[in-house]
Amino acid sequence: MAKPKVVVWRPMYDQIGHALFEEGGVELVVVDSTDAQAVMAELPDAKAIWVRTPERITADMMDAAPELIVISTSGFGTDNVDIPAATERGILVVNNLGFGRKPVSEHTIMLLLAVMNRLTWGDRATRDGSGWDARTNVSFRELEGSTIGIVGLGYIGSELARKLVSGFRCRVLGYDPYINPRIPPTAGVQMVEHLDDLLRQVSVLCLCAELTEETQEMISRRELALLAKDAVVVNTARGRILDLDALADALDAGHIFGAGIDTTYPEPLPDTHPIFAQDNVIFTPHTAGLTSETATEQTRFSVSQILSVLKGDPPTFPVNPEAWKSGRSRKPS
Ligand SMILES: NC(=O)c1ccc[n+]([C@@H]2O[C@H](COP(=O)([O-])OP(=O)(O)OC[C@H]3O[C@@H](n4cnc5c(N)ncnc54)[C@H](O)[C@@H]3O)[C@@H](O)[C@H]2O)c1
Repeated sequence: MAKPKVVVWRPMYDQIGHALFEEGGVELVVVDSTDAQAVMAELPDAKAIWVRTPERITADMMDAAPELIVISTSGFGTDNVDIPAATERGILVVNNLGFGRKPVSEHTIMLLLAVMNRLTWGDRATRDGSGWDARTNVSFRELEGSTIGIVGLGYIGSELARKLVSGFRCRVLGYDPYINPRIPPTAGVQMVEHLDDLLRQVSVLCLCAELTEETQEMISRRELALLAKDAVVVNTARGRILDLDALADALDAGHIFGAGIDTTYPEPLPDTHPIFAQDNVIFTPHTAGLTSETATEQTRFSVSQILSVLKGDPPTFPVNPEAWKSGRSRKPS
């Protein structure tokens, strides 16, 4: 019997995944190109595709894959897959939940401390020698004791809250209308019912929500204006949650002290974007979740989830379980 074909679009975070697929008895094709046509050429007999953010799986690509059983995202976010189109065709979409808890909470704190202490300025100014004269005119800030607002208290937001409360004695306010009620007491978070109430009280805002129609651009001009002067904003969730044009203006006006940005919309951001002119913004290229420890754990999990779906077993993290309930279901029997 022919081996089922699995397409990996861009190499997996840890290439141990490629070996694990082959050990799992599949024919593996790795497409290391951003060109969707190169992937389409591999799809007619593919049973599974793993897609690395930000490459996108569209309805057209699904139409080129009549035997496709499952689409797996590389991480948690599913905004790069046309989920309704997959459901309509009976194709299951799976993701990888919870792997950001450790690395993204750490990365968020790193960005916060780096922005508050102007780390990139300090590095540059030490190398070129200008820092010794300039340092007394630069303001630095402390994290300990700050009032922090966290929007979205899932795996990452709640872990971030725990670290800020226990490690930095912060007061943490949370906004998340869909929160699991067991989280606030264990994470030491005081929840607020309205986002505006949080924005009015905090000096640091951390965005940790999932991207949905509701959270898209949920932090824009009006919301930034509600923050105290010299507030710090960090986004390690999804770029579209924060309006970067509005943030650039708020920084330019001197209302915001600085920002840490791991995710932008689009990715990459055009190099002409006004936010790049702002000195106290520290960027990372969507690497918050990419520690080698998590890359390995997440890759191993992705492979085992895809292999079990190909056997017809229920996955741990289905995104559209209804795809297997319709008459068009492609669930292996
Ligand atoms: N930067 C990275 O490398 C990286 C890595 C992993 C995850 N992420 C992103 O981080 C975010 C959080 O991931 P997670 O693993 O904690 O997911 P999660 O599902 O555990 O948490 C997301 C939280 O967002 C909340 N939420 C939904 N709608 C909301 C709204 N309108 N207002 C406020 N909160 C709302 C949910 O209730 C949930 O508690 C996601 O956007 C994910 O894509 C980024």
